[in-house]
Amino acid sequence: MNEITIASPGRINLIGEHTDYNDGYVLPAAIDKCIYMTLKTNGTKSRCTIRSKGFDNILVADLFDLKPGTEGWHNYVLGVLSELQLLTQSVKGFDCEMETNVPVGSGVSSSAALECGLAFGLNILFELGIDDWEIIKLGQRAEHNFVGTQCGIMDQFASVMGKKDHVMLLDCQSLDYHYIPAKISPYVILMLNTNVTHNLSTSGYNTRREESASGLKIITERFGVKNSFRNITLEMINECKEALGSVGYKRCSYVIEENQRVLEAADALKNNDMAHLGELLYQSHQGQREKYEVSCPELDFLVELSKLEKEILGARMMGGGFGGCTLNLIHENSVDDFIISASKAYKKRFGIELSHFVTVPSQGTSIIRQTNETGSKRTSP
Ligand code: GLA
Repeated sequence: MNEITIASPGRINLIGEHTDYNDGYVLPAAIDKCIYMTLKTNGTKSRCTIRSKGFDNILVADLFDLKPGTEGWHNYVLGVLSELQLLTQSVKGFDCEMETNVPVGSGVSSSAALECGLAFGLNILFELGIDDWEIIKLGQRAEHNFVGTQCGIMDQFASVMGKKDHVMLLDCQSLDYHYIPAKISPYVILMLNTNVTHNLSTSGYNTRREESASGLKIITERFGVKNSFRNITLEMINECKEALGSVGYKRCSYVIEENQRVLEAADALKNNDMAHLGELLYQSHQGQREKYEVSCPELDFLVELSKLEKEILGARMMGGGFGGCTLNLIHENSVDDFIISASKAYKKRFGIELSHFVTVPSQGTSIIRQTNETGSKRTSP
């Protein structure tokens, strides 16, 4: 194999935010917005060039000298290369061209799309024999070690494992998962992008992770159970209210409640109970705003606005928080009108343009085209 083109999607998450690193459940899907990357061997031992059309700059890396860089997106690439080097010495020099239509910094995880697409492509190009789960975990480690976000497993999982017209119920403790048909018609998923990313996004994320972990420790030590959110209940949290303090109490009770909502949402989807699914989205937003405290005025404004539109069953902030998108469950006939009124109101309130897209659960990371040494080509269906 000497040339390969990969499509690697971003993701949405129907519900289950900040539950992945808290031993919980999530309900994500890959989306129809992808990073496309063409990778080819360049005959060198270790020289890698990665050109990104969107960012209009080029990264040159040496496989034997990998350390974090200064440009945001470079670290995702360097992190993946570094993790691959730790696993195998079989990667050689390559050139990569990429182009994306995944909105960056909007909470739909362009980062996981980049990490997993690159690892997936190099795995095939150099016949590394790495399986999907190792690609997922490697992407997560790249983010921990080179980017500095102590993220959970959801984004990389969704990007790789996505299936057309399905969401995935993932148990982030056991890593068991199953696909659920996303039969939501006549409703659709409308994403509204605040086009803001508050500075807190990395530090705030990591702090939340620490706060929920310290809260959990207090509770499990008090009750002498194994240190997992799966072993505690709201009653136990209530009993430890004083020891937890206000922050610990809010973080831990949010996790338990959000986990419950994910399971209910999966049932609602299976039973085609769209109204209940919508209510759960609103409850999730409220929990993230008041208890996990990862929302921001722009996101809250859009969720409040959605409540004025009777054809929207539910809405919530999505992803790590502090900016990015809201996810709206809206009747297909009302999409255009709502976009017009929401854009106007948002611009008036914040002076910022709103962007939007309707999305559908889609195929995970896949091969679009590959060429072998003799020049024959194969294009996937
Ligand atoms: C980011 C992280 C995920 C997850 C979400 C919040 O997207 O990368 O692992 O924690 O935030 O649910």
